Amino acid sequence: MFDAIILGAGAAGLMAAATAGQRGRRVLLLDHAPEPGRKILISGGGRCNFTNLQCAPDRFLSANRHFARSALARYTQQDFIALVRRHGIAFHEKTLGQLFCDGSARQILAMLLAEARAGGVDLRLGHRVTAVTRSARFRVETDHGAFEAPALVLATGGPSIPKLGATGFAYEVARQFGLPVVPPRPALVPLTFEGEALALMRPLSGVALECIARIGRASFREAMLFTHRGLSGPAILQASSYWSPGEALSLDLLPGQDAAARLREGKRTRPRAEPRTLLAELLPQRLAAALTPLHLPPKPLAEVPDRALDALAALLKAWRLTPAGTEGYAKAEVTGGGIDTAALSSRDMQAKSVPGLFAVGEAVDVTGWLGGYNFQWAWSSGWAAGQVL
Ligand code: FDA
Repeated sequence: MFDAIILGAGAAGLMAAATAGQRGRRVLLLDHAPEPGRKILISGGGRCNFTNLQCAPDRFLSANRHFARSALARYTQQDFIALVRRHGIAFHEKTLGQLFCDGSARQILAMLLAEARAGGVDLRLGHRVTAVTRSARFRVETDHGAFEAPALVLATGGPSIPKLGATGFAYEVARQFGLPVVPPRPALVPLTFEGEALALMRPLSGVALECIARIGRASFREAMLFTHRGLSGPAILQASSYWSPGEALSLDLLPGQDAAARLREGKRTRPRAEPRTLLAELLPQRLAAALTPLHLPPKPLAEVPDRALDALAALLKAWRLTPAGTEGYAKAEVTGGGIDTAALSSRDMQAKSVPGLFAVGEAVDVTGWLGGYNFQWAWSSGWAAGQVL
């Protein structure tokens, strides 16, 4: 006999299970994978960027931008940090409020499993769910038998990184119970390019620099990286979550600098230098070598008209590029869209029209910025559901 069945032993499912279990609920936690929390293990380059000191609701994307506010306020980054401290896990701030384990992501998973054990959670792995139905109670059929409970939590995440066992299963069950789903899309994902843009980018694969990447009103000042398919790096991943097909990306390759003034100053002080030499002082050498011949003649700076320098400066401050697409779910760190928040209570994640049905974590249409925000959403939403299961 169980009080709740939680589908998905990832970040959000483990948190919901431990919380409900420690409140005395009998919880069954099911996962089709052979081990729990696989994304936790590979996260943050193996060190798990488990939260962010600057976590705030405006750093999450959703069709309802206020939805995440309640859960994030009720279980904050400080609450999770306190849990991490209680388990004696050493951590550090890397940059921009991002907290990582000093040791390994395994410590975060071990902590969550210990918390689940403390709540008497019955964790069963390698269970393939074949059907979910509801009469008086929810019934979950698996290849290892059927289970019933009055509450069911969808914590199976989104389809990003399918090779880790990620699926869109939560959406199927949600639709089956009449909950709408905001069309899912890859987010925090490298952008791909075609034609002339790709011809320029491909040979630059591996070149990284600081930039400001802008899409619409969103802008991120972080590193970007050229790849053999286009662009990646934190600034690009962040911007990708805001991108829709056909939209242009604008890159400032000299953040905080007056490019026109720097180029004109170079011309005045070193009239005999070639433009490429000057540009290589402002940008990585390979990028300077690729961009200069496209925009300036191979003449001493003294012979280059100011208007040509100004045109190049304008390009360096706002290089407009239209991505052809993204690298898709295979490379997406998270999934944008998901179960429509309009159908859920923001306080406890319960479906308004189906009492006892809950959705938490990445399965829900709440997508955080890069930098620990998505785990914080998993902890906060899992905890919120765990309070009422
Ligand atoms: P999660 O995906 O963690 O868990 C879902 C669980 O459901 C899995 O155990 C899966 O096996 C199971 N499941 C799926 N389908 C099922 C089915 N049909 N039946 C049964 N079980 C099923 N975020 C962050 O904040 N900091 C970071 O450092 C990183 N780093 C990072 C690196 C990489 C490479 C990726 C891909 C992602 C990140 N993330 C991240 C994002 C973060 O991993 C993600 O937001 C959370 O894991 C989401 O937690 P959930 O519990 O919702 O899903």
